[in-house]
Amino acid sequence: MEADPLAPWLLAVKLGLYASALLAAGLGLHASMNIVERAERTRCLRLAALLGGAALVFAISRLLIANVQLGGSLGSIFDPATLAWTWPTLAPSSVAFAIGAGLLFVAWLFQRGAFAGLASVALASGFALTGHTQALEPPGLAPWAAGLHVLIAAFWIAAPVTLWPGASLSDANVLARTERFSRLALFSIPVLFALGLWLAVLLAGSISALLTSSYGQLLTAKLVVAGAALGLGAYNKQVVTRKLRETPTSGRRALTTTLSFDALLFAGALILVGAATTLTGPPTD
Ligand code: HEM
Repeated sequence: MEADPLAPWLLAVKLGLYASALLAAGLGLHASMNIVERAERTRCLRLAALLGGAALVFAISRLLIANVQLGGSLGSIFDPATLAWTWPTLAPSSVAFAIGAGLLFVAWLFQRGAFAGLASVALASGFALTGHTQALEPPGLAPWAAGLHVLIAAFWIAAPVTLWPGASLSDANVLARTERFSRLALFSIPVLFALGLWLAVLLAGSISALLTSSYGQLLTAKLVVAGAALGLGAYNKQVVTRKLRETPTSGRRALTTTLSFDALLFAGALILVGAATTLTGPPTD
């Protein structure tokens, strides 16, 4: 089968959508769950609203690429006849991203954490309303499992931003944020792994297909990368948090290091799932 010349563009746009939508949703969750202290909420919600806007731009770009793919030329990028085919498929997901971006803007404008929480759910739904889980016969709970999986992933990958021990953040606030985040991460991240593993076997079709198909191998590599991030999380909880309490200066240094590695691992996980859902797909036999 001839490689799709637009696939690299679609992958780039998807990675932009993942990074902006998940960081926006994650920061929205951190503000609505009071991981970020009230005094810093404005700055957190402003960044989340900006990222929500970026996610909407990437969602629109995804639709335009679908138009070119279906129309077969750049000339069909805004063609209403082509849009009549692409819009019905991408409409639910695109509308969810638009609602999420809009709610984040309102949350920032009116300083309402509850709107930020709702926005995060809408942004995560954008991934439940499209993609491979929707193609399952019947989809059943899989799309909502994917949505919850992405919501928890958003909560996790925003941690390097929220917990970063910047100069304006006091030792007490760095420690408080880290402890509040760890408390919620302790029960939510195992759910992300359980949902991810269930979806991986369901979509690949079997454990052997997970290990032998290129789609399955990309997801397995993602599991390994996410496992490494989980290990770092445990180190943060057991060692770095104690350092932050006892010797804040070296604790902040250690946290900067672990959060930098976390950010690299999260980028790796997003690139792997982007490649799995754009350059390959679940085995069809
Ligand atoms: C750092 C941790 C993780 C992040 C940031 C993450 C992120 C994501 C994102 C953004 C999606 C939606 C992809 C889309 O609809 O285009 C997704 C889907 C998925 N993730 Fe994860 N995930 C993580 C961990 C895991 C783990 C540990 C597994 C277990 C194997 C897993 C398995 C899956 C599967 C099977 C899908 C559905 C893929 C498809 O629709 O074809 N994820 N993940």
